[in-house]
Amino acid sequence: MIFDTHAHYDDEAFDPDREGLLKSLHNQGIDYIVNVGASIDSIKKTLALAKEYPFIYAAVGVHPSDSQMLSEKHMKWIKDMASCDKVAAIGEIGLDYYWKDPDKEVQKKWFARQLQIAGEVKLPVIVHSRDAAKDTLDLLKEQRKELTQVVIHCYSYGKEMAAEFLNLDFYFGIGGVLTFKNARKLIEAAEYIPMNRILLETDCPYLAPEPYRGKRNQSSYIDFVAQKLSEIKQISKEEVLAQTMQNAKEFYGKERF
Ligand code: NI
Repeated sequence: MIFDTHAHYDDEAFDPDREGLLKSLHNQGIDYIVNVGASIDSIKKTLALAKEYPFIYAAVGVHPSDSQMLSEKHMKWIKDMASCDKVAAIGEIGLDYYWKDPDKEVQKKWFARQLQIAGEVKLPVIVHSRDAAKDTLDLLKEQRKELTQVVIHCYSYGKEMAAEFLNLDFYFGIGGVLTFKNARKLIEAAEYIPMNRILLETDCPYLAPEPYRGKRNQSSYIDFVAQKLSEIKQISKEEVLAQTMQNAKEFYGKERF
């Protein structure tokens, strides 16, 4: 009983064995996967995966690192794609100041513009935010009224920011990083965030949990994240999986599942 709320099975890391792997994952109890677009090309591949596999859903949006090439023509296309069957969210969109490029103003412009689309099509938003806490918070606050649900994916800030995001009724995406030896700040945030606001995710092929750190990630490894979270929250792993399954369904829209 696992819902992987954020995966990239379109990535070339899965080219050698994608079909066999996805089928075996579904047989092993991976009930649902949301495959997340990050560029125009990966959105196309994501839509194709959602069409092919009944248990895969799609998110459409362009990652800040790819936002330099965007135009209004792309915005119209993304909005059109958002109405496709099985498109469950807009994302991943956001701000990434870890990289110098594209320029902050370019990133902000296309983040705000894609948030506007999410408001118009009434879909939840998957936010990527790295070293950009304040600008992320400001832009999301500005459009909060228009937005349905928001998740800060691969949450990497501390407890204080978590409080700000909780005030806006957001969700928090937590994955393999929680099991890393240097995860003290994230563990503290996970202690603080209520169970009903946590979504489990892989971000695969990236960020595999211990004991697979550095290897190719896959949805079944969420089990190790659930185990770690159960120790932090002092509840059973089964409770973690049941609660986060319910959270994911509520986030993406109960009527779909
Ligand atoms: Ni991602």
